[in-house]
Parts: sequence; structure tokens; C-alpha cells
Amino acid sequence: MKLLKTRAELNDELEPFWKCAARISLIPTMGALHEGHMSLARLCGPCDVRVLSIFVNPTQFGPNEDLTRYPRTLENDIELCEHEGIDFVFAPSVDDMYHSDSGITVNPGAMGKVWEGAIRPGHFEGVLTIVAKLLHLVRPDAANFGEKDFQQLTLIRAMCRSLDWPVSIVAGQTLRESDGLAMSSRNRFLKESERAQASVLYKALLTGRDLIRSGERDVEKVKQIMLADVSKSADAQVEYLTGVNSETLVEEAIVPENARLIGAIRLGSVRLIDNMAVYDA
Ligand code: PAF
Repeated sequence: MKLLKTRAELNDELEPFWKCAARISLIPTMGALHEGHMSLARLCGPCDVRVLSIFVNPTQFGPNEDLTRYPRTLENDIELCEHEGIDFVFAPSVDDMYHSDSGITVNPGAMGKVWEGAIRPGHFEGVLTIVAKLLHLVRPDAANFGEKDFQQLTLIRAMCRSLDWPVSIVAGQTLRESDGLAMSSRNRFLKESERAQASVLYKALLTGRDLIRSGERDVEKVKQIMLADVSKSADAQVEYLTGVNSETLVEEAIVPENARLIGAIRLGSVRLIDNMAVYDA
């Protein structure tokens, strides 16, 4: 495993692989790696050159968000990548990544303004811009993203489709703790009492899914029952919890065939997001 700290080093190392048309896979992360990230790395083909990027991207954090406290655990991340047999870890500095301040960014369109985008204005503009930059720098054949950030995944797919980007976007299933809580780098900030309540979101999504599977079609009714589930937790505050069309992210009155249940709650200072397909693909 080689650690590459600049775009120039990345370019030098990847050049021979581009020349011989080797298959390259990119796993973009913000570090604080856990089993969820490693499972994304394992989705690559056996002969792929695997590049895992670690970059806490400041442009996707709002002014009152957790950029400074976002966990940075580079040494541990490198150990995990070594153990996993990752070929290159690309961990550039902010100055190196944002060397040009032209102000040109990727506009995520209407799908970037709802749900997470409504609560975190500018977030998806930051995400798509950094993902676009990483795709250009690494020139991978495939890039792997977790389904846990479902809106992010949908937007990245839409960006690549809209901009005719010849890269396959590979989705990795959400990995969960034993009580169902989706793995996330931010879970470490949950206090003990909050951690004990944190699986409430997963359980509400399961309730919603089962309700639809047993025939309920009214999205409003599904929402109310999921909300009642979350209200069993004394501290969880719901930001949104609903069912959407998984391609458009629009909440429709009647549950669509491709419905995805999505939700975000706050427990103390921690935001938790999660989602679930209603029917297996
Ligand atoms: O999901 C993440 O960790 C980040 O949003 C990503 C895709 C690496 C962009 O910074």
C-alpha cells in the first residue's frame, strides 16, 4: 500500500496504469474508516487497482456543521487499508485539492435541494464538486459509494448520467451494528443513553417497509406510523421520515413500485440518517 499525499504523486503513480489500460476502482471516503468502508473496498474486482481516497471535504460542511470535530484517524485508516491490501491511499491536503478558487462548482439541481439538501444547504454542491474532482484525478473505471447516503448516491449517479461520464457507480449495502444502527463515522459521538436509542430509526424504517409489504399504499399513513415508532425514543427528534420514489426522490401520495424509505433524526448533537428499499431489487 502506498500513501499519496498530493495530486502530483497520485498522477505519477497512476500514469503507468492509465497507459496499460488497467482497471482502476476508486473508493472515495472522508476517513474514520469502519467496516462499512472496507466492505465498499471489497466490491472491487480481484485485479482492480484500488485507490481509496481520504479527504474531509470542507465545502460539503455548512458554517454551523461538524467540520472541525469530524473524526480524523489517518494512522488507523492506513493500517486498515494496509490490512485490506488497498494499492493506494490518496490523502491530499485542502490546499492541494482546492488549488484553484475559480468558484466553479457542480450544481446538484432540484434533487439536491430536498431532504438532506434542504437541511444542509450547499452540501450536495460540495459533495458533487469533490466527487467530480476525484473522478478526474483518478480516472477510475468504477467508483464505489455506500447506500447509506442514498440521496448522495442518487445524485452522483445522476451527475455521471447527465454529464456523460464513462464511470460505473457501484453501490454497497449499508452495514449495520447488531441492533440495526447503520454504521457511520459519526456514531462514535453518541452518548451512552443516545446510543441505546439510536436503532429507533432503523426500526421505524422496518415498520414502514413491513406495512407497505402487507398492502398499505398511503404514504401519509406509513409516515404517521413510522413517526409513532420514533416517538418511543425520548430524545430522538425527527428531521424527516418518509417514502420517496427512489429515482426522483419525490414523495408521492401513493407508494410507488420503486419506493425507498428515508429518514433523518437528531439525537443530542448527532444527526443520524438511514434508508431502506421497500422491495428487494
Ligand atoms: O460519503 C462521503 O464520505 C463523502 O460525502 C464523499 C462521497 C467521500 C465526498 O466527500
